[in-house]
Order: sequence, then C-alpha cells, then structure tokens
Amino acid sequence: MPMRASVVVLCASLLINWTNGFSYEGYKLYEIVANDIIEMKYLRELEKQAGLNFLKEAYSLGEPNEVVVAPQYQKEIEKILKSIGLKYKIVVENVEEIMEAERRTFSLRPFMGLGDVTFRSFMFHHEVSMNAYLRRLAGQYPEITKLEHFGTSFEGRDMLLIRVSSGPSSNPDVPKPTIFIDAGIHAREWIAPPAALYIIHQLVENPANAALYQNVDWAIIPCLNPDGYQYTQDEERWWRKTRSVLPNSDCRGTDGNRNFDYYWMHAGASSTPCAETYAGPQAFSEPETVALKDWFFTNNGTVKLYLTFHSFGNLLLYPWGYDRIVPDDVGDLKYLGDLVAEAIYNANKLNSVYMVDTSALGLYEAAGTSADWAKAVGGSALSYTIELPLGSARYAFLNLASEILPIVQETWAGIEVFHSFIEERFWTNLTITTTTPSS
Ligand SMILES: *[C@@H]1O[C@H](CO)[C@@H](O)[C@H](O)[C@H]1NC(C)=O
Ligand SMILES: *[C@@H]1O[C@H](CO)[C@@H](O)[C@H](O)[C@H]1NC(C)=O
Ligand SMILES: [Zn+2]
Repeated sequence: MPMRASVVVLCASLLINWTNGFSYEGYKLYEIVANDIIEMKYLRELEKQAGLNFLKEAYSLGEPNEVVVAPQYQKEIEKILKSIGLKYKIVVENVEEIMEAERRTFSLRPFMGLGDVTFRSFMFHHEVSMNAYLRRLAGQYPEITKLEHFGTSFEGRDMLLIRVSSGPSSNPDVPKPTIFIDAGIHAREWIAPPAALYIIHQLVENPANAALYQNVDWAIIPCLNPDGYQYTQDEERWWRKTRSVLPNSDCRGTDGNRNFDYYWMHAGASSTPCAETYAGPQAFSEPETVALKDWFFTNNGTVKLYLTFHSFGNLLLYPWGYDRIVPDDVGDLKYLGDLVAEAIYNANKLNSVYMVDTSALGLYEAAGTSADWAKAVGGSALSYTIELPLGSARYAFLNLASEILPIVQETWAGIEVFHSFIEERFWTNLTITTTTPSS
C-alpha cells in the first residue's frame, strides 16, 4: 500500500509514555469512518500502533470508529487522515471533561462497610473493596466457599479466586464439572468485574440459588488484571493492558488477552510494545496470565465451561479467535450460546440482543486469547468470551453506574442457562449411565 511509509513514520513518532500524573486534558475523541476495504485495512494497521487509542471499532464499512488522540499528535493524524481520504469528525474536544463527569459519580458512591458489595457503583480491587468482599464471604460461608490466592500481579497485588461448591462428588466415576469465570483482564472494561461479583453474590448469598452448586462447582476471579484496573481508577481511564515494565520500551503493559500460548501472535495481535494489543515479549510473559494457566494445570481437566467477561458490544463469542475457522463442536457452542442469548433477552432488563458467533467471525481475529487457550490447552470443553452491553452510555467503556445492576441481572439469567447445560451434560447424563440402580 502506498500509505505504508507514512504509517511507519507516524508510528515511530508516537512511542510516547503516557504516565506520570496522567490527564486527558486536550485529548480529542475522533470518529473516523472507513468507506472501503483499503481504508479499513489502513485503519486496522494504525490500530496496531501506539498513540491512537481505539475505543470503538467499526465492524462494517461506513460505521464510525472512535479513537482518542493526544494533543501533540492531533495535527499529524488529521493530516494523514486527510491525505488518504479517511473521513473523520471530532466528537469530544476535551476528553478530560467526560472523565470528570464519571469521576463525579464515583464521589457519590454509597457508604459501604468493610466486606460489603455494591452494584450501584464501581468497586476498587483492593483490600477494603472486592478482595475484602471475597474474604468476608469465605469467612462467613466456609461450608460452600473457599478462597484461593492463586497469583500475585506484577505490582504485587493479591489475586483472589473464590470457589463455590457443596463438596466433592460422592460418585467416584463422575467428578463434578467446574464452571470457571474471570473478568477484568482488560482494565478499562469496568462492567466486567461487577458481572462476576454478581454471580458470586447470587450463588453464595442468595439461598434460592443453592441448587446451582450442588452438582456443579464454580471458580470465579472477579478481577484478573488488578494493576491495570487500579491504574484506570487512579490515572488513565482507558488503559487496557497489564502494567508490567517492558524490557526495551518506555511503554508499559501487555494485552493479557493476547498473551496466552495458543497460536500466540498468529493474528490480531501486535509486536509493538506501545500498542493496545501488544502480545508481550513472549507468550505467558505476564504473572496474571501465568497464574490463570497454573490454576488450570493444577486443577487438571475439571473445568468444563470457561467464561471470560469483557465489554462491550453484546456478543457471545466462542473459539476460534486466532483464525476464521470453527471448532469441531461448533454445533454445541452455537446452540448453547443461542439459548443463553435468548435467556438474557427474556430477562428484559435492557433488552440486550446478543449476537452469537466465533470470535474471529463475530468480532475480529485475535490470537493468544484466554478463551482459545482454555478450550485448546486448558481442557475446558466449552469456552465463551462475553462482551457485555454498554447500555445507554454514550462513550466507550464508560458504563453508567445506574446501569450496572440491570446489566449484571440480565447476565445472571444467561449464567443460569449455562449452568443447566453443564449440569445436564457433565453430571446428570453421566450419572445416569454410570450409576447402577439400587433400591
Ligand atoms: C492433564 O493431564 C494430562 C495427563 O497428565 C495432560 O496430558 C494434560 O495436558 C493435562 N491438562 C491440563 C489442562 O492440565
Ligand atoms: C443428555 O442426554 C440426552 C439423551 O442422550 C441428550 O438428548 C441430551 O442432549 C444430553 N444433554 C446434554 C446437555 O448434552
Ligand atoms: Zn476486552
């Protein structure tokens, strides 16, 4: 492509360090529209590079992409966009202002005691917030919960996983299947941790749901990237990656969801450290992804369903992400995905209509994802990435605090369907065939 040279020049100049008292003052939010395949390809190329923060990607031609650009690069970007004929418009002149609005909702957070949970505001990860909640549950419900300190983040935060189980299987031939759920591997996707917390809350604190952990075990990580998450709350709201220090770059962090060792760097991932989709210096370079991998290996073969919460877009995505091909059990994955989508729609909180497809076909090619790895290597029979709704929020990832509850409630309706399927296939059906009738 003739514009290739200018991309390289642009990108070399965009290797900047965004940290140190970060502010979005003067940052602009652009809508950029690609009208043909060449323009789209050019945009996708830009996306792999630093300096442009893509908040929203268009899936079809003519649809706007939302991109945040730092003040010092705006002139340059505009020049390049004009030179290749990409249409753009500035939709937010000063991004810091929309951040202030969200911060105000933070200052209105409800009073909370230590160990409480809320779905009316976003929680912090740390010891007096999410972790305190998990520790409180483990202390209060020792018969059905178990806390595991399964890893330590790059910056030294405790990564906690909570198990919910009624105890081991009494049938030695049929171990209980585990549903494994994580959230927040992408730091800025704030609606993801509450979705996981709500599942924990419903399972542990609502006695009406006791049947859901009789024959099925649960393992849930509400915040898989605590460093990045904390950083989005303290500094840069739209930070996506981990916060690891990289060997040969001033930019920090790796995209945890490109860092798993299955077709690592095959597609939809960047080798440029400053890029949003930087896959890491090698697969499993991040303590957070290693911690997840190690948990799977320690619990060899028990996970039958892997769910990972992201935002946004109302998508239920199953493997593969690394290429535009379907797995052998696509029939099951699509069938179950459709059932879940229907249940969420019928829960009727936000009228969310989920699309169900493979990651690569429904969203874009992305290799090295946790969902691909969990199925191919981690031994989970079924695996889904759930892109939660944005609700009626105007800007990418800035979900309204008032919509946390409706979003997590409708999502829970889908979780019940996942549970029924897993229980039937990996418990009821197996128990029927292995148990000899007795009086
Ligand atoms: C489980 O153990 C088997 C046999 O040792 C091994 O081949 C497989 O890779 C392991 N799988 C996981 C997910 O640990
Ligand atoms: C359970 O077994 C029945 C009978 O073989 C089958 O029709 C059904 O699809 C199975 N359920 C699941 C969830 O696999
Ligand atoms: Zn994500």
